[in-house]
Amino acid sequence: MVRFIRPHPGQEKILKAKTRFRVVACGRRFGKTTAGQIAILETAARGGCCWWLSPTYGMADQVWRDLKRVGRELGRDASIHEQERRIDFYGGGWLAIHSAHSPDRLRGAGLDLAVLDEAAFMTPDVWPEVVRPMLTERRGGALFLSSPNGRNWFWEVFRLGLEPTEPEWQSFHFTSYDNPLIAPEELEAIRRQTPERIWQQEYLAQFSDDAGSVFRNVREAATAPPGAQPLAGRRYSAGLDWGREHDYTALVVIDAETRQMVALDRFNRVSWSLQRGRLEALIERWRPAVVWAESNSIGSVNIEALQAEGLPVRAFATTARSKTPLIEDLALAVERGELALLPDERLLDELAAYSMTRLPGGGYRYSAPPGGHDDLVIAAALAWRGVRYGGAGVDFV
Ligand SMILES: Nc1ncnc2c1ncn2[C@@H]1O[C@H](COP(=O)(O)OP(=O)(O)OP(=O)(O)O)[C@@H](O)[C@H]1O
Ligand SMILES: [Mg+2]
Repeated sequence: MVRFIRPHPGQEKILKAKTRFRVVACGRRFGKTTAGQIAILETAARGGCCWWLSPTYGMADQVWRDLKRVGRELGRDASIHEQERRIDFYGGGWLAIHSAHSPDRLRGAGLDLAVLDEAAFMTPDVWPEVVRPMLTERRGGALFLSSPNGRNWFWEVFRLGLEPTEPEWQSFHFTSYDNPLIAPEELEAIRRQTPERIWQQEYLAQFSDDAGSVFRNVREAATAPPGAQPLAGRRYSAGLDWGREHDYTALVVIDAETRQMVALDRFNRVSWSLQRGRLEALIERWRPAVVWAESNSIGSVNIEALQAEGLPVRAFATTARSKTPLIEDLALAVERGELALLPDERLLDELAAYSMTRLPGGGYRYSAPPGGHDDLVIAAALAWRGVRYGGAGVDFV
């Protein structure tokens, strides 16, 4: 018998179920991938023909490394084929690892079991067009393991498993708290720093219909009085996003004590030197302790010009990695009412439309919807960064 990891009680429920199609919605770190590995090893060791599917090459790679280790421990009872990423078991069973990235190439003999890890991040055609036909002659089963990704096809198969009229389907739901190896305090610590929407989807494994929107309670947070005047002795923080071709240059100023937005400006189609003049005037007026400015492309030249004027401008390079905490901090502040926004329609619209896409394997990509703007969002997020951290912190590169 193959020795791997002993399943925890939540995994045991999934593994013991005899239903043909098992759909499992789980929170991060529940042990989805591990449960799938146990299932595939058991089936292949008993003579079954099995496929593992991951949404990306990288994720498939990781699983291949894990399973190969087990294969090696079996010595002569298993042979490993590196090229095909297949392990043949003594007794005729085998398992092969694939990435669902290029499903066209996925053809072959009939299967007894297909494991779809992070199924919600595969395109909707993979299951019906590639995997399902492979299960016909051997009446094979499928194990779908995933954290939710909005109400997409994975949600639909999850709902099938809740239908009493579908005896071949069964659904399971587990949160991250259901992994007994994770200390609950650890999850509480994550929760304190995570916007509610992300928490619900990622850790509580809830399917939400508006999973794409980032900012909640935007209108409720628009309580800052317009027309504020600079007050002596106050500490202000500013954020600045440079407009590119069709975008606007935006500046947002926040009072670091009252945590109210006090000023906001947005303009385009003027020369960079005119823009800088207008920004300098605003910065002179509010005298912020720090101005965090986006430094990509045209940013750095303009930043150097403002710095040459003696203004406290710091460069922030937005990359996929640096953007996540920048945006999530602002989202947390808005949804918890810690930052009062100016009731500016363009700002509120940009915030309401701003969206996130979950990436397979964890993390989000943040952006304005196609055709939309995000200059005020970025400027606000940078100003908020200055409120929280002042001018401190290293730029992400
Ligand atoms: N039954 C188990 N016994 C011991 N350790 C386990 C068990 N199940 C999972 N783990 C460990 O818990 C961690 C999370 O497991 P795993 O990667 O399977 O979870 P996951 O739900 O796939 O996570 P992610 O959401 O990051 O994909 C890993 O370090 C794994 O080795
Ligand atoms: Mg996993």
